[in-house]
Amino acid sequence: MRKIIIAGNWKMYKTIKEGQELVNALKRDLYNIENIDIVICPPYTLLSCLADMLIESNISLGAQDLFWEDEGAFTGEVSARMLKDAGCTFVIIGHSERRQYFGEINESVNKKLKAALACGLIPIVCVGESLKEREGKKTFKVLEDHLTNGLSGINQQEVLQIIIAYEPVWAIGTGNTASSAQAEEAHKYIRDLLAKLYDQETADSIRIQYGGSVKPGNISELIREADVDGALVGGASLDGASFTEIIRKAAEVLKS
Ligand code: 13P
Repeated sequence: MRKIIIAGNWKMYKTIKEGQELVNALKRDLYNIENIDIVICPPYTLLSCLADMLIESNISLGAQDLFWEDEGAFTGEVSARMLKDAGCTFVIIGHSERRQYFGEINESVNKKLKAALACGLIPIVCVGESLKEREGKKTFKVLEDHLTNGLSGINQQEVLQIIIAYEPVWAIGTGNTASSAQAEEAHKYIRDLLAKLYDQETADSIRIQYGGSVKPGNISELIREADVDGALVGGASLDGASFTEIIRKAAEVLKS
């Protein structure tokens, strides 16, 4: 049974004070949620102080990126070891905004993935097609490219530590969520591909999150799909009330 995982990607939002206020609200409103793994991924500058606030809570901490070297003269970069040290359990890798604006490619995703795993961080690896690629009927081809190259050299033991996030670029920050059928179709494709790359049992153990305009109004429908194992939430995770509602609605679906 795959445990549902809902993560908030705060992107480049929130000062330390704003982050502390949000974490206080989430701790107050979500303390009794047990059947869902809850993760928040704030900017680097907030990690260490929020880690202290999250000790002994049911909310885990993740970063939004990392660099693959342990240390060195790499101005502006942060390593897996530093993220661990700051209190992270998770790290997002290969987000489409990194691919789009910062030159992230499958090869760098792969190096980052290996560095995260070597350090014991749980990678959330993002894959997904642009609108042009979807319209050109290339969705599956893009997913295959992102996954086969991103996971190159990753063995079965390692892949079991990974979470995949399917994030269609056209649904991110646009309000155009993929329909639950579109999400399920892509998730099923990803799981079938993982079964080919590894084996069915392994593929059945890997959690696949959906990301792209997830809101309180669409989470229930998404989570009901067989291969949707959670959500990676952007905009709606910046507001305590909406992130809480997303998690509570998912928890209700699991109970029903
Ligand atoms: P939105 O929920 O704002 O569409 O962002 C999704 C996302 O990019 C999460 O990583």
